[in-house]
Amino acid sequence: MTETGVAVTAPRAPSITSTLPSEWYHGESQWELDRRAVFSREWAVVGHVSDLRAAGSYLATDIAGSPVVIVRGADGALSAFHNVCRHRAGPLVWDGTGHVSSFVCRYHGWVYELDGRLRSPRDFGDDPPLDRGACGLFGATVDVWRGLVWANLDPAAPALSESLGGFAEATAGFPMEELVPAHELSHEIVADWKVYAENYLEGYHIPLVHRELNREIDAARYEVHVGDRWCRHEAPTRSGAVNAGRWLWRWPNVALNLYPDSMNLERFLPTGPGRVRISYRYFTRDGSSDDEVVRISSTVLEEDARICAAVQRNLAAGTYRSGVLSPRHEDGVAAFQHLVRTARERLAPA
Ligand code: FES
Ligand SMILES: [Fe+2]
Repeated sequence: MTETGVAVTAPRAPSITSTLPSEWYHGESQWELDRRAVFSREWAVVGHVSDLRAAGSYLATDIAGSPVVIVRGADGALSAFHNVCRHRAGPLVWDGTGHVSSFVCRYHGWVYELDGRLRSPRDFGDDPPLDRGACGLFGATVDVWRGLVWANLDPAAPALSESLGGFAEATAGFPMEELVPAHELSHEIVADWKVYAENYLEGYHIPLVHRELNREIDAARYEVHVGDRWCRHEAPTRSGAVNAGRWLWRWPNVALNLYPDSMNLERFLPTGPGRVRISYRYFTRDGSSDDEVVRISSTVLEEDARICAAVQRNLAAGTYRSGVLSPRHEDGVAAFQHLVRTARERLAPA
């Protein structure tokens, strides 16, 4: 007590942050939790405007196991629907890109307009009659930002521009709209998407995992700056050369490496429990790709894939339950894990 009677407590040292529990990274129930808590409500990059140029062009993919189709209507506007027929859940189109004047379900041929209304329940019978108005496609949300097409499975999602916030501002000055697709590669990793995201969000592992990259980058000065649902990496080179690039990550599963004349879009696409597909898409001004850039990023990806698969195996083995995060190197991981926790806490009890 002080003379004035106010209790004084000694300032407490900040404590070291614990990791998420290991059981959050494996098994069917955890996969379902991430699908509901995160991917059913967050914006995801699904493509590029060049995939959807003409009226009737579509792009079909999935967001963590939920099939979705984006289509450009006759009026030029994009619409998004769950790629599931109201009859018996057939697909409207197969995954990939193409062109249609209407959606004809691949199973029994119900026909939908590009705005989602049911035009014709092919040869269904009319006694009793079907209420066609109640059989429109399930809607989702789509928007375009700087040439990238984003979708949200939630038709009531907050606007993309509002949601991107500081991440969008961090891309200022880079000519994203002037770039065209040049090259794509993908890699399947036997690891939960969160293991890969966390690995992406720290440079602590560089000296051990990426020998070649470590000769270029001064890992001791590698920093990850944390924003609201996004991060920016700062990777000084050993030679002291100014790195003209900007490396950004946005919750939950997209990263953008921006340069004055190119960019690399990286997505961590969850494909099932303990499985993630890493998709790289390179863009340049003239569509030609730089073999050396592709070689280096492929090497880095293979090195990350190997370590992430090993971490996944250990998380599932049961010995390790929880660990600790470095206050010097792992603020990005801590921010990501906080977002995962918050997303799960927000879920209404099932
Ligand atoms: S499931 Fe689509 S027409 Fe039957
Ligand atoms: Fe890495």
